[in-house]
Amino acid sequence: MKMAFRQERGLNSNFLNICKIHDTVFSDMLYYVTYGICSSRKRGERTLSMENAIKNYEDVDSWKTIMFLYTSALKEVGTKLEILNDEFQHVHQYNPIEHIKTRVKTPESIVKKLRKYGYEISIENMVKYVNDIAGVRLICSFTSDIYQLAEMIGNQSDLKVLSIKDYIKNPKESGYKSYHMLVSVPIYLSDSVVDTKVEIQIRTIAMDFWASLEHKIYYKFEGNAPDYISRDLRECAEMVSSLDEKMLSLNEAIQKCLEDQETEKKKARKKHISHGERQAAGA
Ligand code: GTP
Ligand code: MG
Repeated sequence: MKMAFRQERGLNSNFLNICKIHDTVFSDMLYYVTYGICSSRKRGERTLSMENAIKNYEDVDSWKTIMFLYTSALKEVGTKLEILNDEFQHVHQYNPIEHIKTRVKTPESIVKKLRKYGYEISIENMVKYVNDIAGVRLICSFTSDIYQLAEMIGNQSDLKVLSIKDYIKNPKESGYKSYHMLVSVPIYLSDSVVDTKVEIQIRTIAMDFWASLEHKIYYKFEGNAPDYISRDLRECAEMVSSLDEKMLSLNEAIQKCLEDQETEKKKARKKHISHGERQAAGA
């Protein structure tokens, strides 16, 4: 029998169909062959959905499996971002990322979100509908850094960009501004790969300042803040935007000024050298 299996390996799908027809006799063998074929192709290349990854660890608490995967995803993405930042520093002597914050959503927050969306509280619903269980926040100096970083992240071949929400071009009603990317990162395990979702929020220091304070103030009212408070917060958001614009143009002016000074210095040095050469030739 085993010989027959080996000969049929190349006709994978046909063979599986035959097995399905005789399922009572072959069910155990089907598992053996399917798994055998997958693992003989390339170890560690069996891509699993999050739901199947839980089943793969059936003897371990599902919650712990999920948390292990999200924590691993944060490590992967965190390292990637640090490397991009270091490379940028290496090439341009400048860091686009001021700092990185990572967090895994608390169980209370996950349950709250599922309830808000009207879903039953289950592990399946949580991995399917809660996209920000693993979250990374990148804080930059200037808005231009945000788009540069977003492009660098999008160019990482092993990251899949699942969605983008640009709340800088289209701010929220509250005044909230930030650039959100939902990506999935492959987590390489001993015998499989699990694509795991991570939400990346990219914003300037000023946007972060506003969002943190607004969160503290507004959430105390649980979404029912008096109108004048919401209005004042929107006004503050506008101030934050003009501060960002001002800082960006100031930075550009500083760069231009430094470049001009450098060009002047070069010109002066050239002039000085040719004057010296003329003097030497006359003497
Ligand atoms: P959520 O159910 O809030 O996750 O909304 P969503 O799934 O449509 O995602 P969205 O991109 O709108 O927001 C995700 C995250 O962005 C939130 O968990 C917050 O961290 C942040 N956020 C969105 N809107 C606001 C806001 O008005 N104020 C603050 N402070 N943060 C916000
Ligand atoms: Mg969300």
